[in-house]
Amino acid sequence: MVLMHYNKIEKDWLKNMSTSILYFSRTKETKKMAEKLAGEIGATAYEITDNKNWDGGLGLIKGLFYAAANKKVEVSYDKAADEAETLIVMSPLWLAGPSVAVKNYLDAKTHSNVHFVLANHSSPIDKPLAKFASKYDGIKKFYGITHKLENSEEVLAQVKADLA
Ligand SMILES: Cc1cc2nc3c(=O)[nH]c(=O)nc-3n(C[C@H](O)[C@H](O)[C@H](O)COP(=O)(O)O)c2cc1C
Repeated sequence: MVLMHYNKIEKDWLKNMSTSILYFSRTKETKKMAEKLAGEIGATAYEITDNKNWDGGLGLIKGLFYAAANKKVEVSYDKAADEAETLIVMSPLWLAGPSVAVKNYLDAKTHSNVHFVLANHSSPIDKPLAKFASKYDGIKKFYGITHKLENSEEVLAQVKADLA
């Protein structure tokens, strides 16, 4: 009985100390980074999806439209992600903010300690990132990756350093 109680306390404590990663990825760039980071920090990377098909050129055009019009989508992901003490949310930039799935997730205010990583191809990312992150109380730290600058390793090293 005492042992069961102790195990529960230990389980709860471990859960509270943990970090998970929640990512969206259309063309797998964010997925690769999320899975690599997860391996390095011993976290689980959970994928967030929505009820839309973003494949191919048509998906890109649809994505531009959904991002510009701030459209709602139905997100799905493993809710175990929300149980971690710190949640690293990773998304590609879609115009001025994250992909619509991640935007909808953040709007639902599901987690109160988010470290947010926004990655894009080539646009200057710091300003849109700071502007976007400032709207969310749950975002405690934020980071921008620009693939053209090949800075993903440097930025993700900073993410890891800030977790320590
Ligand atoms: C709808 C949409 C809008 C995008 N807007 C931008 C942008 O404004 N600036 C930019 O540099 N990249 C932009 N991108 C490119 C992605 O942010 C970039 O390719 C990202 O690394 C893709 O990540 P993923 O493979 O995980 O989906 C956009 C992509 C999509 C689909």
